[in-house]
Amino acid sequence: MIIKPKRMYLKGEAKDARERYDEWAKEYENELLNDFEYVAPKLVAEKFLPYLKKGQTILELGCGTGLNSTYYYKKGCKLIGVDISKKSLEEAEKKGTYQKLYQANLEERLDFNNEKFDNVLCVGVFEYFKTLDHILKEMARVTKRKGYITFTVPSTRASDLYKHTLGSVKEVLKKNKLRIIELFRFRAYVEPATNNRIFNWGIISKKL
Ligand SMILES: C[S@@+](CC[C@H](N)C(=O)[O-])C[C@H]1O[C@@H](n2cnc3c(N)ncnc32)[C@H](O)[C@@H]1O
Repeated sequence: MIIKPKRMYLKGEAKDARERYDEWAKEYENELLNDFEYVAPKLVAEKFLPYLKKGQTILELGCGTGLNSTYYYKKGCKLIGVDISKKSLEEAEKKGTYQKLYQANLEERLDFNNEKFDNVLCVGVFEYFKTLDHILKEMARVTKRKGYITFTVPSTRASDLYKHTLGSVKEVLKKNKLRIIELFRFRAYVEPATNNRIFNWGIISKKL
């Protein structure tokens, strides 16, 4: 079941993202895996899984069609997904890997209590945000103490998307009492239109 927001007034980038991903939902996985050579979910899972225990909860922000979820589901983790695109959430639901799915705008306050989840994951989403203060603050708020917050940050600018410097990310992490446990750089995908190789930082951080 997909839980809808009580209200959602979208404008600007969030509205564009919803429209784009609703339209793309059915073809997203096929195109990303074959045309974009998208490897972020697999590479991040290889790094993150050793930190996780069976039965732990993972809140996945910007879960899309659920490409990341299969790795964590196999480990026995309980996944809760959030995305703005209802059509992507419908694809994610078909996988049967999420306990619950929520439609929500990550630019707003998350509708979850403080320290609700053991861990939080967010892959391929930070490029949609000009600044990371709000999203990282919310990720830290809903994670239990000693829980892990893992995410990717683009270090190459892809067409129409934001990139972030490692320095600026580190500053926000420090503000929210998140300590970097692992940092790795990898080629996340290749933009088919330009043939640009898009690099990401993968960051596993821990809430102190
Ligand atoms: C590149 S896809 C990544 C999806 C998935 N994490 C993956 O790795 O395949 C970016 C996702 O971010 C979501 N998104 C973008 N802006 C958002 C926002 N403001 N609120 C919630 N989701 C958003 C899109 O709907 C899309 O599913």
